[in-house]
Amino acid sequence: MNDAAIGIFDSGMGGLTVMRALMALLPNERFLYLGDTARLPYGTKSADTVARYAVQAAGALVKRRIKLLVVACNTASGVALPALQEEFAPLPVIDVIGPGAEAALAASPKGPIAVIATEGTVKAGAYVRAIHAHAPDVEVMQQACPLFVPLAEEGLIDGVIAELVAHRYLDELLARKPHALVLGCTHYPALKGTIGKAAGLDVTLVDSAETTAARVDKALGERNLRRGDASAPDHRFLVTDAPERFARVGEIFLGRKIEPDAIELVDLQ
Ligand code: DGL
Repeated sequence: MNDAAIGIFDSGMGGLTVMRALMALLPNERFLYLGDTARLPYGTKSADTVARYAVQAAGALVKRRIKLLVVACNTASGVALPALQEEFAPLPVIDVIGPGAEAALAASPKGPIAVIATEGTVKAGAYVRAIHAHAPDVEVMQQACPLFVPLAEEGLIDGVIAELVAHRYLDELLARKPHALVLGCTHYPALKGTIGKAAGLDVTLVDSAETTAARVDKALGERNLRRGDASAPDHRFLVTDAPERFARVGEIFLGRKIEPDAIELVDLQ
């Protein structure tokens, strides 16, 4: 089992920002990534639909034998974590919202903390709950930024259009003077430069990728699941649509080349 891959899924390419942090921390591990590109975005869909998609995506990874599952999508983490844990038990399932809340509180223990995320994550209130579970008195403000996902998927991560959108979403929120700004969608780190420029220097940007990777590292250690083989690991990608586009744009998120022959087109129905 130790040689099995770590499964990761997202609605599209955003979860590659989490895979990037995982690869940096766990260079010896194999990763199997699924991007549900045919059904992106998840963030504007109902909780029931996202939960159904999440179980299907995870099921496709489990079928290919994985030793741990990373839900690299905040929207799915917010509405489907209990369903995934139940459906695939005893597989360890790690989400991004718990680690994101932890990183936010480390950056700003007393708040206020601003969370930018998809409509679904904002509506589910998952970050508010996760932060308040540790620090009930910390003020948490939220803002949905739905256009950031298509901008990132287009590779439009900087320049005048991205900047205008960032100001449209952030100016009012930043006027309330948060100390930390949580990138509560795994697509947003691709726009970190633009978001940081709009936010200014007084606010700390928080990305859950590194804390998530640390949690995966700990889970592997506790369960004795580390890959012992010292040979270079192979990484594979599954997508539900447009593999050539995934190879081309995915590079921006992963920070390295994705070989087209490492990508397989799958049908989740
Ligand atoms: N990357 C996903 C997230 O973290 C969702 C983006 C979307 O499909 O709307 O929420």
